[in-house]
Amino acid sequence: MNKLSLGHFPTPIQPVHGLDLNPAQHLFVKRDDYSGIEVSGNKIRKLEYCLAEAIDKKYDVIVTTGAIQSNHCRATAAACARLGLSCELLLSGDASGQIESNLFLDLAFGAKVTFIPPDTKRELFYEQCLTTLKNSGRKPYFIPVGASNALGSHGYRDCFLEILEYEREHGMTFDLIALAVGSGGTYAGLWYENARHNLDKAILGFSVSADSAAFETIIADIVTDMAEQEERSLPVDKSSIRINDLYIGTGYAKSTPEELSFILDTAKKTGILFDPCYTGKAFLGLTSELAAGRLEQYHSILFIHTGGLSGWTVQQMSRALERSEQVS
Ligand SMILES: Cc1ncc(COP(=O)(O)O)c(C=O)c1O
Repeated sequence: MNKLSLGHFPTPIQPVHGLDLNPAQHLFVKRDDYSGIEVSGNKIRKLEYCLAEAIDKKYDVIVTTGAIQSNHCRATAAACARLGLSCELLLSGDASGQIESNLFLDLAFGAKVTFIPPDTKRELFYEQCLTTLKNSGRKPYFIPVGASNALGSHGYRDCFLEILEYEREHGMTFDLIALAVGSGGTYAGLWYENARHNLDKAILGFSVSADSAAFETIIADIVTDMAEQEERSLPVDKSSIRINDLYIGTGYAKSTPEELSFILDTAKKTGILFDPCYTGKAFLGLTSELAAGRLEQYHSILFIHTGGLSGWTVQQMSRALERSEQVS
């Protein structure tokens, strides 16, 4: 399978200090937020595969979709600019809102942004845009939300292999890998490689949107497609797809004051900053589950920081600092 080299890999793994954890448990973080600056985060691993296919097959415009502050869309815009490809983003959200954060970066990297009109059937809208491009003589390559198809998810097989390499080098084994789940591809790639190596690492995803049953199905479908592509027999036992949906809070891309305070508190204690939409919620979930003793059987725990820092909006920043007395 062809692949471009767009991110900085392998990303480092660091111990997390400063948290009050059970002394028998050791927490590490894999810094996939260090995969780049413009392309920072998990999406670039997936785009290395999707954009390779687009270039190989001579597509001339990349079309993808996501929410207004989508990290995937921002990474796609940045990667396309680097590769000299046109990029069109179909975004959902409030078109009259402030141009900031990832939306600013989308435009800075030259992507054409179209807002999906409210109450429009998404799939139909994508089809219309692709047809318009084809009718004007273009050859559009469509990447689904989060690049969470079988091809994109291969990027997280690579991440899993980096984790195994780290274990070999350091003579240790992680028994639990935890991460945020938004469209399922990151989880699917890790699960696939875990199963392929017959390893029994627990992989625990914290949903930021749908309920656990929905994600179990989405992830099982992606894994099945990946196995089919490779003509491999890899039966998917859904009970090994572990998704916790208790930390979604008030909904996708919505933050409670408690979540925002947790992120800033963690930044002060550990020197690691998470984003409010994905990694902040997932890390809150992981540390809450650890504190409640519900993950007692695990001793070496790896949290994957999947990035997202450029998604912090001005409103989220000021809400996070509302109760802070640091500025006088
Ligand atoms: C920063 C960040 N972390 C985690 C995720 C979740 O990854 P996935 O969509 O592959 O589940 C996303 C995207 O959805 C993201 O932007």
